[in-house]
Amino acid sequence: MNRGSENLNTHHLDTIDIEEMTEKHVARAVKLVLSVFDSLVAPDCSAEGIDEFRSFVNVPSMKARLRDGNIMLVAREGRKLVGVIEIRSKNHISLFFVAPSHQRRGIARALFQRAVALSRSRHKHITQITVNAALKAVVAYKALGFTPISGIMNQNGITYRPMAHTIPPHLGR
Ligand SMILES: CC(C)(COP(=O)(O)OP(=O)(O)OC[C@H]1O[C@@H](n2cnc3c(N)ncnc32)[C@H](O)[C@@H]1OP(=O)(O)O)[C@@H](O)C(=O)NCCC(=O)NCCS
Repeated sequence: MNRGSENLNTHHLDTIDIEEMTEKHVARAVKLVLSVFDSLVAPDCSAEGIDEFRSFVNVPSMKARLRDGNIMLVAREGRKLVGVIEIRSKNHISLFFVAPSHQRRGIARALFQRAVALSRSRHKHITQITVNAALKAVVAYKALGFTPISGIMNQNGITYRPMAHTIPPHLGR
């Protein structure tokens, strides 16, 4: 790993807090995710894919999943949300978004590390985290230690690459 860039990223995270999402964050989290989705992901999706995503990311659905116990974290700068991660089914990333203005500063890495630790502390048996990676995000997931576990797939108008990350055995045990 490039230690120089790691230090740089840590420096840029000084103003960022990573915390568990609560109901008070949900409306802002939906707004952030939809705005990043619209600008960076939707252009690669069919109309069906966009509808599918919007049926998943709205205030009632997100609140319901929060109550169901999905791991949901936010990256916050002051009152402004700049990143969101959600893990469903104990170990599958279902949302991972950072505001374009705040990308490439280590926020996704910080969210991911906290989410993995939380997931392992709640579910001691899990050995990996999986994701259906948007194609443009595959390179970032590789940098986070994910490897592809199949070829490119397409379901409900969304194109993705299934990937997995092995959790270090000692983490949270
Ligand atoms: C994917 C995403 C969440 C990454 O967020 P981020 O905060 O910019 O990521 P980080 O700064 O923590 O970077 C994590 C690692 O990925 C690498 N990385 C991130 N974006 C990258 C890019 N576009 N190209 C190459 N490497 C990238 C970083 O260099 C870093 O690796 P390093 O620590 O070894 O240098 C962000 O790009 C995003 O929101 N994309 C749009 C939404 C999306 O597609 N989400 C995934 C849905 S499956």
